[in-house]
Amino acid sequence: MSTKRTRAAVIVLALAALGLGACRQDMHDQPKYEPLERSTFFPNGSSARVPPANTVARDQLREDSVYYTGYTDDNKLIDKIPLKVTPKMLKRGQATFNAFCSPCHDEVGTGRGMIVRRGFPQPPTYHQDRLRKVKDGYIFDVITNGFARMPSYASQIPVADRWAVVAYVRALQLSQHMPLDELPPEEQQKAEKAGLLPADVTQVDEVRVDPNPPASQTEATTDGTH
Ligand code: HEC
Repeated sequence: MSTKRTRAAVIVLALAALGLGACRQDMHDQPKYEPLERSTFFPNGSSARVPPANTVARDQLREDSVYYTGYTDDNKLIDKIPLKVTPKMLKRGQATFNAFCSPCHDEVGTGRGMIVRRGFPQPPTYHQDRLRKVKDGYIFDVITNGFARMPSYASQIPVADRWAVVAYVRALQLSQHMPLDELPPEEQQKAEKAGLLPADVTQVDEVRVDPNPPASQTEATTDGTH
């Protein structure tokens, strides 16, 4: 290709790019209200609209407060998950727990997740009497509203999945602390024969934060992508 033709092609491309840029700018500047911006169009001067009286937005009807909050109508935490716990639900709970909770609580729930090893405050282990005795509604409430330094997971985890996580936290607790006499008789015999004692993870050491993690593990945070 001659240099003249190359130059012409470059100019055409540059003009085309300018044209495209302009289109994008139009989309960018289209008239819109920012959240809570003042409006001269509506009589009350507010761009944010209030739902008409006695209406409920689609999917926002939350009549069953027990299911949505873990509390009864007279404000008491519920003892048991208000759904039937099935193997499928536990699998879902496991996947959700491993994705959202294990970074801090680790996959067994002892509170030594990767973020904790990099300096986030260490959560308490689930394998202690206080947390074994809390009601199912309590764990649901912690996930929904957060707890002290733990943030809320309500926007990331839908309600049904939160209950599945509660079921899975209970399964984790049993996995480390199953009273022998609550096993079916044949399982009891098997466990006794095998001399099986559950691993004791009640005592969890303070996590030692590594001040100089290997370079490969710091890269992800230094380029701005978390
Ligand atoms: C970013 C880290 C982090 C994540 C992710 C996280 N937690 Fe926590 N969690 C904590 C910390 C820290 C505490 C202790 C809070 C405190 O005492 O300040 C805690 C406490 C708890 C407690 C105990 C509350 C009590 O009474 O002591 C439960 C139960 C719990 N988390 C469940 C979960 C579940 C279930 C998930 C996943 C949906 C989850 N957490 C995700 C950090 C996290």
